[in-house]
Amino acid sequence: MSLNQRQQPLPTVAKHGLLMSSRASFSAAQPQGIVYSFLFSRSGLLSVLALFLLLVVFVPLPGRRPMSALFYDDGPVSRWKDYTVARAAGFAARNDTLIVTSVSEPFLPMLNNWLISIARKKRQDQVLIFAEDYATLYEINRRWPGHAVLVQPAPDSNAAHDYGSRGFFNITSRRPRHLLDILELGYSVMYNDVDIVWVADPFRYLEGDHDVYFADDEVAVSTTVKPLNHSHDLPPPGANGKTYVCSCMIFLRPTRGAKKAMSSWIEEIQNQPWSDNKPTHDQPAFNSALNKTAGEVDLYLLPQAAFPSGGLYFRNGDWVERTRGLHAIVHNNYIVGLQNKIQRFKDYGLWLADNHTDESPLGQI
Ligand SMILES: *[C@@H]1O[C@H](CO)[C@@H](O)[C@H](O)[C@H]1NC(C)=O
Ligand SMILES: *[C@@H]1O[C@H](CO)[C@@H](O)[C@H](O)[C@H]1NC(C)=O
Ligand SMILES: *[C@@H]1O[C@H](CO)[C@@H](O)[C@H](O)[C@H]1NC(C)=O
Ligand SMILES: *[C@@H]1O[C@H](CO)[C@@H](O)[C@H](O)[C@H]1NC(C)=O
Ligand SMILES: *[C@@H]1O[C@H](CO)[C@@H](O)[C@H](O)[C@H]1NC(C)=O
Repeated sequence: MSLNQRQQPLPTVAKHGLLMSSRASFSAAQPQGIVYSFLFSRSGLLSVLALFLLLVVFVPLPGRRPMSALFYDDGPVSRWKDYTVARAAGFAARNDTLIVTSVSEPFLPMLNNWLISIARKKRQDQVLIFAEDYATLYEINRRWPGHAVLVQPAPDSNAAHDYGSRGFFNITSRRPRHLLDILELGYSVMYNDVDIVWVADPFRYLEGDHDVYFADDEVAVSTTVKPLNHSHDLPPPGANGKTYVCSCMIFLRPTRGAKKAMSSWIEEIQNQPWSDNKPTHDQPAFNSALNKTAGEVDLYLLPQAAFPSGGLYFRNGDWVERTRGLHAIVHNNYIVGLQNKIQRFKDYGLWLADNHTDESPLGQI
């Protein structure tokens, strides 16, 4: 029997979601020879067990508090499990406005990259993170108390879900609900996908007093690169009868119109569920919702030069040169897989989460 199997308290802790990843497995060398017989005497066994428990309880694992902290204070579980969106929003809002994203554990480094870019524009205080698993909720709030909230029930898996997968759908389909909750509380809200980086403050582009602001998600083909003075109306549907607006960057005011758009998005997600032969995600439903509510909701298409899709920014160097100085956010889409996204940010000098973690309220994560 190995020591890990004898050690009982850990699985109980793991059940509460504190140690959800592979970091929860502790390894111990196989006992041999004289050590072996010592271990199997009653006192030997007890001393080893005691020593092991001491180590587990008092020695911090890299990047994590010693587990003893769970026993001294009332611990992250009881403190944050019942933290509501209303309390969290009240805590983080500045000027009645929040900046939000939603994130699951594998994407924490990407979250840090986003957050550092926001801190550089001095807006990190108004960030609220929707944690999509308990490990993320506790980890963020341990490092930066109050800035993460979890809306129950949490999606059950915490793998890194790729674009188009069912897990990706499950997580992204929660988005409009989160946003509607915040609007109902009376706050304006900017939503960003976590694979976004700010290169300027996007708030300065929120002209006028519209209900819903969004960017489009077109790739870099000549017909979709817009003139700098393009219209801010909802774009006309493309050849397939649908618009291609991105659900990655949205700003909403707490108006009847914006709430109507979010409710419609929620309905459209229910009408267009994920299936094996028609894998989908939240974005087509967002486009349907904008199409259906356009008559009643005041919509505003953000300038493409400030909010380019990854399909434009990373694939059209000429355009990037022509529009230099006009970019506000860069979205790392049109590429699948977390490692690929990180590598691309590195290639373009947009990866801050290795060498600039001192600028992050989360530190190195
Ligand atoms: C606060 O919000 C109002 C209304 O949305 C806006 O006009 C104003 O510029 C904001 N002030 C700051 C400091 O962001
Ligand atoms: C997604 O949600 C469905 C329905 O709640 C569930 O059956 C499925 O296991 C989930 N899949 C993933 C990968 O999270
Ligand atoms: C953009 O500018 C061009 C050339 O100056 C002009 O012809 C066009 O009408 C403008 N478009 C809009 C939407 O203002
Ligand atoms: C909504 O979609 C339909 C079908 O493609 C299209 O005919 C209509 O013009 C769209 N409405 C708006 C406001 O874009
Ligand atoms: C971080 O700094 C090291 C040492 O200066 C450098 O080699 C590396 O390329 C930097 N990484 C990024 C992502 O900028």
